[in-house]
Amino acid sequence: MHESMCMYTPQAKVQSQVQSVHCSAIISIITTIITTSTFLLCSYACEPEPKLEREVRPWEQWCPYTERVTALIGVAGVWNVPYITGVYLIQGTVLRNAETRPNFIHRLLDADMAMAANMRDKGVFMYVTNLEEYGHLVDPDFFPTKYLHNDMWQMKANRRDWEQRYISPEYWQALNPNTLNEMPCPDVYWFPLFTTRFCEEFIAVAEDNGGWSDGSNNDPRLAGGYENVPTVDIHMNQIEYEQEWLWILRHYVKPLAEKVFVGYDSDARAIMNFIVRYRPTEQSFLRPHHDSSTYTINIGLNRPHIDYEGGGAHFIRYNCSVVDTRVGWSLMHPGRLTHYHEGLQTTRGTRYIMVSFIDP
Ligand SMILES: [Fe+2]
Repeated sequence: MHESMCMYTPQAKVQSQVQSVHCSAIISIITTIITTSTFLLCSYACEPEPKLEREVRPWEQWCPYTERVTALIGVAGVWNVPYITGVYLIQGTVLRNAETRPNFIHRLLDADMAMAANMRDKGVFMYVTNLEEYGHLVDPDFFPTKYLHNDMWQMKANRRDWEQRYISPEYWQALNPNTLNEMPCPDVYWFPLFTTRFCEEFIAVAEDNGGWSDGSNNDPRLAGGYENVPTVDIHMNQIEYEQEWLWILRHYVKPLAEKVFVGYDSDARAIMNFIVRYRPTEQSFLRPHHDSSTYTINIGLNRPHIDYEGGGAHFIRYNCSVVDTRVGWSLMHPGRLTHYHEGLQTTRGTRYIMVSFIDP
């Protein structure tokens, strides 16, 4: 996208702005405001117009000074701007000068708006830049406090941090078209997906909820009240993670599925999303069955030979088993037609897996 910028003050070239930063620029905003999705600029005086890419969230469209607001992505530089917010660096001389010292009162404006207005009135220039890395800002507006591990719910508001915490670093390599993904049984693929932290917190959230089904055919959580192949499980809507889980499917699982099942365009829809608990003293195995899915993911959440013994998936048609499943790794296999399978017996401890029946 090539956008021409709004005109707020007379034009000035980026180069001259850079120079003015050295001699009189006062305020810089933290670098990654430009390089992440959390902030936008009300930018002006940019010529030639910078190349601008990416869409923005609706609230970011608002800007009191411009009709057009876009993100400065894909270009490095320094921009003179009429308004900054959040975190900023202020040159010492500005702070020491009583005339230019930040004043956060200006009519009825909010604090940052007021400060920026006062700076403009004083002729103090404000800038944003992505020439230096200062870290990045967290969007605190959508942070819940009611969950056991609230960070798990941050994938939309603070996606970068969320991915660093919860998406396995190996995931991105698995997604690479040049990476040959493991296939321990015919058409059963095996991917690194989540970090150990995600798995531990996921289990903790489920156990904290504690609303495990009893493993019987009668299941009031389902529309028909009947589960043909029941497990002891907790559905995502029980822990208020249904929409979040579907978001994960769309953003991280769908691309993997479309990589290995070439030509299949997944909707990443799923009605059945649940954590299963296998124990010798509860349900310890699952009889042979087909899943009600086009494809299924089955993610190991805890450690074989440490947290439990036994367990795994056996694909009967191929007489092939996947055992010693890896924490955070997902099996992915076709569902209702070719991959008749069973859950192998857990003989000690507790085994947790996360299962989704995708595109049912
Ligand atoms: Fe299954």
